[in-house]
Amino acid sequence: MESGRRISDPFKPFAAEAHHGDVKISNRRWFPEKGAFILPAAMSDLIGSRSGLPRKINYSSYSPAIMIKLDADVLRVNAKLPWPVFDAAGRLLLNEGEIIPSEHALQILLERGLYRQQTAEELRQQAIKPEDRPVPFDTINEYIPRLQQINVGLKQARDGIAERVGKLAREIQQLCELDSDAALGAIHLGQDFAYSHRHQVHTAILCEIFGRTLGYSPGRRESLVAASLTANIAMLELQDKLHTQKEPLNEDQLREIREHPCNSEKILSAAGVTDLLWLQIVRQHHERIDGTGYCEGLLGDVIIEEAKLLALADIYSAMVSPRAYRSEMQAKEVLREMFLARSKIVDERLCMVFIKEMGIYPPGSFVRLVNGEVAVVIRRGKDATSPLVSSVLSPRGGLYIKPLRRDTSRKEYAIKEFCAMEKGLKLNLSVIWGYSELAL
Ligand SMILES: [Fe+2]
Repeated sequence: MESGRRISDPFKPFAAEAHHGDVKISNRRWFPEKGAFILPAAMSDLIGSRSGLPRKINYSSYSPAIMIKLDADVLRVNAKLPWPVFDAAGRLLLNEGEIIPSEHALQILLERGLYRQQTAEELRQQAIKPEDRPVPFDTINEYIPRLQQINVGLKQARDGIAERVGKLAREIQQLCELDSDAALGAIHLGQDFAYSHRHQVHTAILCEIFGRTLGYSPGRRESLVAASLTANIAMLELQDKLHTQKEPLNEDQLREIREHPCNSEKILSAAGVTDLLWLQIVRQHHERIDGTGYCEGLLGDVIIEEAKLLALADIYSAMVSPRAYRSEMQAKEVLREMFLARSKIVDERLCMVFIKEMGIYPPGSFVRLVNGEVAVVIRRGKDATSPLVSSVLSPRGGLYIKPLRRDTSRKEYAIKEFCAMEKGLKLNLSVIWGYSELAL
């Protein structure tokens, strides 16, 4: 906030108070000399701040005029707000990055009426005709042939190949910003293409989403996503072979696996990658905090956080993918395994962030509702137990021509249990997520 001009309507100076039950909602003042709103203690308690210090507010990516009313579906307790929120009069209630600490606080805020400003990206998207809107599942499918070319280019150290990886990484970041729930759904349901290629994309998506949750800057996330796309460049062929191999690993395969992080780093360096963070993540992505990892056997905090995050994404993506010797594991089982492994081989704090962000019913999970329908989770809900779903099978097991959107926070559509994906059931994900009006 470098000038007074920026604080004109709707951000004009104010001091407002409102009381809802026993919680004071807002009582903040504009202090021009500090260039910030002051959050008094009562408000700080409500929104999770402990410092009470002035905070800078970044308006740069928001439109000053268009306000969007928020409902419970897009607000989550104990998660950082992705944008500032305002009341109906345009007064700031919570800043970007602040936290709604409880269901009680959320209810109070919803009763008051919450709004956010349209982002510049959304304004740009609005200018695009609906039929030209990018469909996440089509976009992800288009990554695969590009990745195949990139993989060859990296091994041949072609000119400009590192920049091509960076461009793809930034596109994956945009995809996750457009619809992170659809991107997560693709990880659980998109099992087309060779394992090695989809694993590259799936770990990149997971790292972008969780890097954002952890507050990483876009540049730091770009290095992480680029590392996710290229970490296994030294063993892609072996990775596909192992995906269908039922026999135990032989000596040569074991050696290739243990050496692949260091060999991948060498290939990337030779191909012109100079981003030290990218290279370090690749080198360390199989290290384990108890020192049992490879290729250097590093311990605990010596391993950088980004490499630990890629390790989690790697484990998760591999476990939800079917193998020749087993079916895919359900997200619930994988998250349970990760919970049991926390603090042994994976970083406990990151592991808990990962589990919490995924929720009990990650997008792409199959669930049975109390009314007997089988549904696909398409959006994480306002709390961990009530996601938005699309019902695809009737209580009698018949396929719905068009999926039916159900809010599982409603008693009649509550989730009864997880269920496995029906064998042979081919679903159009664009229809399920509402990107297409076609029939299933
Ligand atoms: Fe790897």
